[in-house]
Amino acid sequence: MRLISIDMLKPDMKIARAVTNKDALILPVGKSNVERYVPNLRNMGIEYVYVEDEKSADIEIPDAISDVTRANCKQVLQETAQKFAATDRLDVRELESCVDMVITDILKNPDVQVSLNDIASNDEYTFTHSVSTMVYALMIGRKLKYNEQTLSILGLGTLLHDIGKIIIEHSVMYKEGALSKQEYEYVKMHALYGYQTLMRVPNMPEQARQIAYTHHERLDGSGYPRGLSGAEVSEFARIVAIADVYDALTTDRCYRKKWPARKAMEFLLEKSQKEFDCKLVGLFTQQLAIYPNGSMIRLSDQSIALVCRQNAGMPLRPVVRVIQNSRGEDVRPYEIDLIKQLSVTIIESELEIRRDIPAVSAEDIG
Ligand SMILES: [Fe+2]
Repeated sequence: MRLISIDMLKPDMKIARAVTNKDALILPVGKSNVERYVPNLRNMGIEYVYVEDEKSADIEIPDAISDVTRANCKQVLQETAQKFAATDRLDVRELESCVDMVITDILKNPDVQVSLNDIASNDEYTFTHSVSTMVYALMIGRKLKYNEQTLSILGLGTLLHDIGKIIIEHSVMYKEGALSKQEYEYVKMHALYGYQTLMRVPNMPEQARQIAYTHHERLDGSGYPRGLSGAEVSEFARIVAIADVYDALTTDRCYRKKWPARKAMEFLLEKSQKEFDCKLVGLFTQQLAIYPNGSMIRLSDQSIALVCRQNAGMPLRPVVRVIQNSRGEDVRPYEIDLIKQLSVTIIESELEIRRDIPAVSAEDIG
């Protein structure tokens, strides 16, 4: 299986993971000859699909949580948000059971790095982003050896960290293009609105409420809404800040294409001198698959390959399958283990091969 841009779809490629949009099935597993759906997929904001083809046969993409858990969590969060918008009541019991399912998966697969980005369309972004951010936050919590109760509070707070966005006017929250200064200040209010919303929910742990309030605070005082700094920024707030920014950068938005994992990792490392907690960034980045299985990369000899397997603890040196030589000609696929062939390195990931990486703006990660 591999993840490819919809522009690269060919007739012999079969869909390997179902493509859905707002709960409707668009392309089922096993469907081939799907190039004709490309304009529709693009209209829905779906830019990538998982496919099975001859070159990627037998490549598996393990993930820290199962597809079922991820989809279930997103659906429950979406329904909870809809019910909340209609009734102003927020029922957390179902959310708590979702968080528990994710914790069970994460503790069951201690060595599996996070590989998959959900390929949902833009209008579902807030929900998919919240679930992915929770998975990343829980992976940091796992490394910190939190007990299950602490993980549960961290998970629930992270799942609801952006709940205040429901209160922000849709036309501003989902505006295509740059926000005015005034609009950006308004969007920033989601942190306070989220906290106020969760204050009205009985039995919500205060630490979970605080995540909504503090996830945009930064260690150097440059964050919002209160500009807290140093020890005033709790460990939960530091964890969710890292998870939130990493997921925002590595996900496609209507106004910006996603960044490759390596570049997002470098961004966090660079900012960890000031904004993010260095130790937590380290714990997080060592658990990422920087070049996930099934992704296309360019090697230092200019050949093109697919990533087949990860080497534990060596995220920059997986096992790869060469499919094109340095002259761009297809070759009979062969594998190279990059921890055995130290003279060969990965110089570009799929996204870097295909296009320029867009710059990031404050609103992207705010
Ligand atoms: Fe936020």
